Amino acid sequence: MIGPPPPGAPEIAEGVLFSEEAIQERVAELGRRITRDYAGRDLVLVTVLRGGVFFLADLCRHIDLPLRVDFMAISSYTHEAHTGSVRITKDLDEDIEGASVLVVEDIIDTGLTLNYLLGVLKSRGPESIEVAALLDRDVRRIVDLPIAYRGFTMPDRFVIGYGLDLRGRYRNLRYVATLPDEVMGE
Ligand code: PRP
Repeated sequence: MIGPPPPGAPEIAEGVLFSEEAIQERVAELGRRITRDYAGRDLVLVTVLRGGVFFLADLCRHIDLPLRVDFMAISSYTHEAHTGSVRITKDLDEDIEGASVLVVEDIIDTGLTLNYLLGVLKSRGPESIEVAALLDRDVRRIVDLPIAYRGFTMPDRFVIGYGLDLRGRYRNLRYVATLPDEVMGE
């Protein structure tokens, strides 16, 4: 259910899909599960700049393990093309051979980005590779991939906040807000 925007929300926000409290509670829960599942293993959290950074920063502080974090950047591709062809513009600094890799994403839509990324990372010989995604907009999926740690499944709405942007802005909102459909056409 979509709630009213909190005081001080940008005028552009239509409503709140996931509140700060709901997100924090879910992130803490995922962190506890990951802590149990990865005890005694060489855990590396990998995220894709830029949206995933916010989820990663909160999630890793709920994981009580001596983990490593690392970042990648990839060039955007045209979703309409459905090619999934992307280019790495910033690669990992860490060696992940033999490590337990957890790819942390803010949102998964088509799954094309993740599909490409998992292929690249698997070729580097990790012990395991799994996915944690805060938001799963599964109605847009083209490539189906297993998501081991999912925050929320969400409807086919355009959203901002908690890492998600509108033309580079609003990533810093502590909640996820919906935008009216008209905004996307502007
Ligand atoms: C988002 C998200 C994923 C990708 C998912 O990144 O962080 O990387 O889109 O979409 P897909 O499942 O259709 O491939 P975005 O391209 O918006 O870049 P950003 O994180 O810098 O905002």
